[in-house]
Amino acid sequence: MSSDGVNHSRRRFLTGATCVVGGAGVVGAAVPFLSSWNPSAKAKAAGAPVKVNIANIEPGARVVVEWRGKPIYVVRRTQQALDNLSKVESVLRDPNSEVSNQPSYVDPVNRASRPELLVLVGLCTHLGCAPMYRPDVGAADLGGDAWLGGFFCPCHGSKFDLAGRVYQGVPAPTNLEVPPYRFEEGGDVLVIGLDQEVA
Ligand code: FES
Repeated sequence: MSSDGVNHSRRRFLTGATCVVGGAGVVGAAVPFLSSWNPSAKAKAAGAPVKVNIANIEPGARVVVEWRGKPIYVVRRTQQALDNLSKVESVLRDPNSEVSNQPSYVDPVNRASRPELLVLVGLCTHLGCAPMYRPDVGAADLGGDAWLGGFFCPCHGSKFDLAGRVYQGVPAPTNLEVPPYRFEEGGDVLVIGLDQEVA
């Protein structure tokens, strides 16, 4: 698909973002007049961490939030999805995330600090389209029985597994990026944009 597809994907993300608790949007809404806008405050808000209440994300569900202008995918993986990660490693380009971008406190294989909760930057590492969440095992359009769930980029066909690890033979060069994040308030609040404190 052309660059036109890139823009459309981003627009779809922006209209579908949900579950933001706090963050730049809330700060902006509280300021009624553009003439009173403080540029330094705006710049600060644009880079601010975003909090997401994850308590009600059902197993298998994904929510999308915006952080620093990027879509962030938050997926609560099922046990089956976690079990399937080892079954696709032979067809992945970087199954141990050796050249891919994620924080040091994230497991390089399941790519999370809490295995059931996957947090990814939802931008394809090829040219930046928003990959579709396709957890449907056996999807006929994605390889049938060989497809164990993951993400599919509609722009040029890149595929990623349910840890955001890229398949071999597709345009995307690396796994989807994992942003910095931590948990607060007993573990029910995900904070995107702040690193986990390492003991
Ligand atoms: S942007 Fe080209 S495959 Fe995703």
